[in-house]
Amino acid sequence: MTDEQRLRLGVNIDHVATVRNARGGDYPDPLRAAKIAEKAGADGITAHLREDRRHISDADIAGLMEVLDVPLNFEMAATEEMQQIALRHRPHAVCLVPEKREERTTEGGLEVAREENRLAHFIAPLRDVGCRVSIFIAADRKQIEAANRIGAEVIELHTGAYCDAHAEGRYDERDRELQALRDMSAFAHSLGLEVHAGHGLNYETVQPVAAFPEVRELNIGHFIIGEAIFRGLEPAILEMRRLMDEVRS
Ligand code: PXP
Repeated sequence: MTDEQRLRLGVNIDHVATVRNARGGDYPDPLRAAKIAEKAGADGITAHLREDRRHISDADIAGLMEVLDVPLNFEMAATEEMQQIALRHRPHAVCLVPEKREERTTEGGLEVAREENRLAHFIAPLRDVGCRVSIFIAADRKQIEAANRIGAEVIELHTGAYCDAHAEGRYDERDRELQALRDMSAFAHSLGLEVHAGHGLNYETVQPVAAFPEVRELNIGHFIIGEAIFRGLEPAILEMRRLMDEVRS
């Protein structure tokens, strides 16, 4: 498989921290999960430091920066506090995501088009210290164009609507969402942006997205950590890796 063909897998370890925090102690340790993920062939580790610290903590981020041999993709809201944390740690990549305190997870993509000026200023210092800036957005031409204009190098397409439609048996809608993801991957690539995708992917939904030739990386968390309960973390990751490789070969 050529480097262009190979799809990178970023394993999101947030929900190891969710389980740990349910009891307020230090078990299970997300850093241990990250090292197992590395061993299983993860190309990167993704962690989202939320403003309310509901899963990943500041100490987790510091620890990940210390122990990881693969790049850290640091997900964060576009706030002053998070920018300072990112500038301190200088992770390989910073992925800007929308964050509302009341939501259960990252519900939609970032509204780049409406906040173009602010975001352009926000990401400049991050780029200056060498972080690759990625923007988590819906498969929407306007948002992609705006992400490109503000100087992002990467966009991550939100696959949540596609995955939800699949899970709920709304197959026409699922296919429309998939088509939009396919078209917008090609469009973003044509602008020179690197294309990533993620949110809600599982063994059933991963292959159609992994098949888009322009997509270079998938970030997957909740399903892998859930599946690890049943088959162990390393086998759960290896199966995801196998499915991704199968469609790219
Ligand atoms: N990509 C981004 C930008 C995300 O915010 C998340 C969820 O934190 C994911 C990928 C992973 O989503 P999931 O945990 O549903 O696999």
